[in-house]
Amino acid sequence: MNCAVKFLLFCTVFASSQPTDNNEGLRLVSVFFRHGARTPEASDLYPNDPYKLDAFLPMGWGQLTNHGKRMAFTLGQVLRQRYDKFLDKTYTPEIIKATSTDYDRTKMSALLALAGLFPPSKTQKWHDQLDWQPIPVDFDKSAMDFTLKRPNTYCPTYMKELERLLQSDDTLAFLKTHKETLQFISNHSGRPMNKLSDTFAIYQTLTAEKTLNFTLPEWTKDVYPEKITMLAAKQCEIENQNDLLKKLNGGRMLGKVIGNMVAKTEGSLQPHERKMFLYSGHENNVINVLAAMNLFQTHFPNYSSAVIIELHYLRSRQDYAVKILYVKDVYQPPVELTLPNCEEYCPLNKFIQLTENHVPKNYTLECDSIVNLD
Ligand SMILES: *[C@@H]1O[C@H](CO)[C@@H](O)[C@H](O)[C@H]1NC(C)=O
Ligand SMILES: *[C@@H]1O[C@H](CO)[C@@H](O)[C@H](O)[C@H]1NC(C)=O
Ligand SMILES: *[C@@H]1O[C@H](CO)[C@@H](O)[C@H](O)[C@H]1NC(C)=O
Ligand SMILES: *[C@@H]1O[C@H](CO)[C@@H](O)[C@H](O)[C@H]1NC(C)=O
Repeated sequence: MNCAVKFLLFCTVFASSQPTDNNEGLRLVSVFFRHGARTPEASDLYPNDPYKLDAFLPMGWGQLTNHGKRMAFTLGQVLRQRYDKFLDKTYTPEIIKATSTDYDRTKMSALLALAGLFPPSKTQKWHDQLDWQPIPVDFDKSAMDFTLKRPNTYCPTYMKELERLLQSDDTLAFLKTHKETLQFISNHSGRPMNKLSDTFAIYQTLTAEKTLNFTLPEWTKDVYPEKITMLAAKQCEIENQNDLLKKLNGGRMLGKVIGNMVAKTEGSLQPHERKMFLYSGHENNVINVLAAMNLFQTHFPNYSSAVIIELHYLRSRQDYAVKILYVKDVYQPPVELTLPNCEEYCPLNKFIQLTENHVPKNYTLECDSIVNLD
């Protein structure tokens, strides 16, 4: 091996092991993430669960655990490490906007991620014993959230199409194939398993309890994690099964990301200093935005997982490009994802073309909604 080759190899290895922003062409970053680990939701419980409310106190149902808080905070630190130079150390209100769904756990996860991302710079340190500064998080009240919230309560076209697919021969055949397993879960849990959404609920509860290091009942060993995860992930898959669902689901937010990226390239993004958008949500927010980019391979995302969409200006090409990263686990390096039929740095125009069928042009109209969803 000659020196030049060695040097090249060294550079490649060095570059790919650098988690920070060695790319000076970075212009805008959008991050969709799932909240940290949490306690189960009351609506997801099963009658024979040995763990009752007192097991989850003082936080109660559907709230972040301490471990979950650390995860969300760590996600912020991961972003700090990667975007340290890009963002600068000093927080300004223009530089970042954080939006959450209307849940305690997602609002808290957003606050925690911001705490990991923007510890106070020297001049912003305001208290000796607190390495933290307040940074606001926006949210729409649940009944008015037509962006991050699942569209299955407000977008009639989506609701009809999803219902059609859930009742389709394919889905019914799938349920029939797994009849034995469903009956087994139902027998032991005491909760009927007639629909995929029932398996989704039980997956959520068992995963929450397992992550709390609670001992799961003996019977779950036969069906959890493998079978129940597979069944729950099937529900996620069906929610994004075709172009229409992808468009009305994650395409909604992808359209907003594309709008922001285009505005950034044109110098019209307001405020001009904006460099990052954080979207704090749920597993569906991670899944749906992946699906809208044809990057969703059926799975159930981890707590605090994140999809990152970066806009770069590549001097070598004199053009803008989009790069996608998936933080599957906050304690592991992010994975780079490449859009089908594109490259790692996907030219912005091509990115727009490739996702065109999954981006609504007029959401209210395409949802056939009598309420204005804009
Ligand atoms: C479920 O319970 C019913 C009634 O006790 C029983 O007949 C059936 O074999 C059980 N099925 C499974 C898969 O455990
Ligand atoms: C569960 O156990 C693992 C391994 O011992 C530990 O790393 C983790 O922090 C524990 N989680 C909680 C919520 O206690
Ligand atoms: C979740 O995190 C674990 C632990 O790092 C990892 O092995 C797994 O692949 C992740 N799962 C998904 C679906 O990303
Ligand atoms: C979207 O469609 C609705 C209903 O037809 C119409 O009222 C509205 O003006 C359209 N919005 C845009 C931005 O074109």
